[in-house]
Amino acid sequence: SAHFVHDEDEGELAIDGMGLSTIAEEVGTPAHVYSASAIERAYRAIDASLAPAKHMVCYAMKANGHPEILRLLASLGAGADVVSGGELYWALAAGIPPERIVFSGVGKSDAEIAYALDAGIRAIHVESEPEIDVIEAIAREKGVTARIALRVNPDVDPVTHPYIATGIHGTKFGLELDVARRLLPRIVESDGLELEGIACHIGSQIGGAKPLEDAVAIVAAFAKECAEAGAPIRALDAGGGWPIHYGDEDAPYAPWNAFGAAIRAGIERGGASDLDLEIVVEPGRAMVGDAGGILTRVLYVKEQGTKRFVIVDAAMTELLRPSLYGAYHAIVPVRAREGDVTAADIVGPVCETGDFLALDRPLPPVQRGDLLLIRSTGAYGAAMATRYNARPLAAEVIVEGDAYRVIRERERVEDLYPRGA
Ligand code: LLP
Repeated sequence: SAHFVHDEDEGELAIDGMGLSTIAEEVGTPAHVYSASAIERAYRAIDASLAPAKHMVCYAMKANGHPEILRLLASLGAGADVVSGGELYWALAAGIPPERIVFSGVGKSDAEIAYALDAGIRAIHVESEPEIDVIEAIAREKGVTARIALRVNPDVDPVTHPYIATGIHGTKFGLELDVARRLLPRIVESDGLELEGIACHIGSQIGGAKPLEDAVAIVAAFAKECAEAGAPIRALDAGGGWPIHYGDEDAPYAPWNAFGAAIRAGIERGGASDLDLEIVVEPGRAMVGDAGGILTRVLYVKEQGTKRFVIVDAAMTELLRPSLYGAYHAIVPVRAREGDVTAADIVGPVCETGDFLALDRPLPPVQRGDLLLIRSTGAYGAAMATRYNARPLAAEVIVEGDAYRVIRERERVEDLYPRGA
């Protein structure tokens, strides 16, 4: 994350030239901090990697659905991949045009399907046979044609971290290819359905461009079959999963350009070049992950046996990924102290043994009151926050140019108190 850099003059970490201690003093800790310019750079890099092909970047907003981030991406031309009626509402409110919104997910409710049809989104991504029946029935009732894409499961190993693969690679996602093939005639014949695309998403943090190319080749060949069967196929959606570096990789990932190229190569390999397909991608993490960090303050340093526990004011409530997946996030002091680097468990105040941000992590000396930065938390950080232990949601700020703006005020304890109680 090149935008969180050491400012030599100030002797501390800064984000786009803005000192992190200033932000911490003014908004308190813990706080999520984002760089608008980093988000913009990521969007442009992904977008450029797909050119010269016709394409659309549908941001997987589950990674971070903050309205200000959505508005920024909307202004750059991004679409959205939504997974609930709530996300669809937010995407539309942020000004993302409906024709640039796709709707994924295995469990869409009738109300959500009706909402998507009313909004006239680009495509509903179908993940099961019974879902097709429901979409068709609701579309008939409304007297409209539902634009759909079939999300197929190309059965390609994404070569990702097992913790993330388990989360997304269960059998619950997508249609098996032979099921999709069997459904094809009935979809083509239906006057309530228009099959406009084939989609896949092989996983998050995909280890390389090759698995993506393999998956796209399979999907493209199926798209060709669908077109030959009479479906008005115009899009191939290669899903998201483009990786970012968290700091514990043995070797760097291929650059994003390679991922864009892999999709184009996969379409050719699948024999679908002549379909003139629009390439759709659904990156979430790649768009915002690197652009964010969490500022946290050391509350206590506790030596227990041979262990050093650094207890900070951020916790699994602000960043669930270490607890949930054993995920690695680099953690660095905002102002470095001289001294030996030794191992520490960096933990939060939440009453769970699993509430840790890092285990056995080499760390220079730190003292009560020191500020730390948890890196690469822009994706699936604030988005997965909870209020467990009656902890108010943390503040969020975005740095734009040489100023920052609070885009979520820290919740007050009064805000948490259940309405109706
Ligand atoms: N498209 C679909 C259909 C998805 O299911 C997902 C992520 C994405 C796109 C975006 O994937 P990305 O580009 O962000 O890797 N909470 C986990 C990640 C769960 C991802 C679920 N689906 C984490 O913190 O790593």
